[in-house]
Amino acid sequence: MTTIVVLLALVVAWLTVLARISQPVNNSSTVEVDSSVSPWSIRRVRPDVFTAGQTATAQPLVHRFPGDHRLVAGVTRSGKSCTVHAIIAAFSETVDAAFVGVDPKRTELGLWTPRFTQNAVDLDDIDQAIVNCVRLMKTRQQFLELQGLTKWTTALGPWLFVVIDEYAELVGVSTDGIDRTAEGTVIDKAMKRSRALASMRITDISSLARVGAGLGIKLIISTQYPTAEVLDTQIRNQLDTRIMHRVSGSEQVTVCMGSGRASAIDANSIPTSMPGGLWIVGSQDYNTPTMARSTYIPAEHIPNIAARTAHNRWTWDQLLSLQTTDDRQETKQ
Ligand SMILES: Nc1ncnc2c1ncn2[C@@H]1O[C@H](COP(=O)(O)OP(=O)(O)OP(=O)(O)O)[C@@H](O)[C@H]1O
Ligand SMILES: [Mg+2]
Repeated sequence: MTTIVVLLALVVAWLTVLARISQPVNNSSTVEVDSSVSPWSIRRVRPDVFTAGQTATAQPLVHRFPGDHRLVAGVTRSGKSCTVHAIIAAFSETVDAAFVGVDPKRTELGLWTPRFTQNAVDLDDIDQAIVNCVRLMKTRQQFLELQGLTKWTTALGPWLFVVIDEYAELVGVSTDGIDRTAEGTVIDKAMKRSRALASMRITDISSLARVGAGLGIKLIISTQYPTAEVLDTQIRNQLDTRIMHRVSGSEQVTVCMGSGRASAIDANSIPTSMPGGLWIVGSQDYNTPTMARSTYIPAEHIPNIAARTAHNRWTWDQLLSLQTTDDRQETKQ
């Protein structure tokens, strides 16, 4: 009898703890979305507001268009791709969004090919794609200077989302703990070359992060390894929207959410009963960490969405020649 009472008390205590940690600290969305909108449907509810998921208090999870540069982090199978797919699916509906995929793991973004300007998987193609993004940034910068303008708007051309799935693969950091740098070996030489390329890549991505936002270029960076070594502070400081799925310790919480906010979040706060659970914080919406979950799109549905929205696709030629949406429509007629 005593054992049963003790067991019941333990279960009640455990459920109370679970309920408390599953509560968002504060659901402080600055965007009020009509309560008739289903939180799970992906919808454009305003020109600059899309919904694609639900918060822990059953409000629609909103994504501002174009929003901040975004970080999406979490251990494997924690729901990063699901969140990235939901954001792409939302924004793919508008012609004001162009996408370039950087997918060194080759598994995540290929389903979007009909909608993407490019999905680069080989490192050479990835480097070329990043160089093209920097070229676009510089071309747009010169254009704005000539026109006496200060900020990119959709009237001038689309926002380009550079979607990077597995950032750690690009930065030359060993994520498996194996040191391959024994001096003078063939592998060491290959590593030195790949380190040099990685450092050029990081410089380019940093400059996209620093200057791109004002020129219509936004980064969506996803990683299983949110550590200070993988995400250096230069890049991290520019990623104003942080989406953190399940992580493996408090150091990762600090890197994902910033040291100021990390104390409010327990590293184990996403229950396994909530696949795809996440914390989101941003500069415009969700000023304090808010718990949520993205709309789940089964992988087999993505090719249909990509095909249905393929008419909104931009080519590199169209982007680099600074075509506007109106220019595109004229050339189609
Ligand atoms: N929002 C969600 N709702 C319901 N289930 C989800 C959600 N997000 C993820 N899942 C489940 O978790 C699985 C893994 O999700 P996902 O592929 O997005 O993880 P990941 O973090 O990208 O993993 P990896 O790092 O290995 O690529 C999905 O196949 C799905 O079953
Ligand atoms: Mg993934």
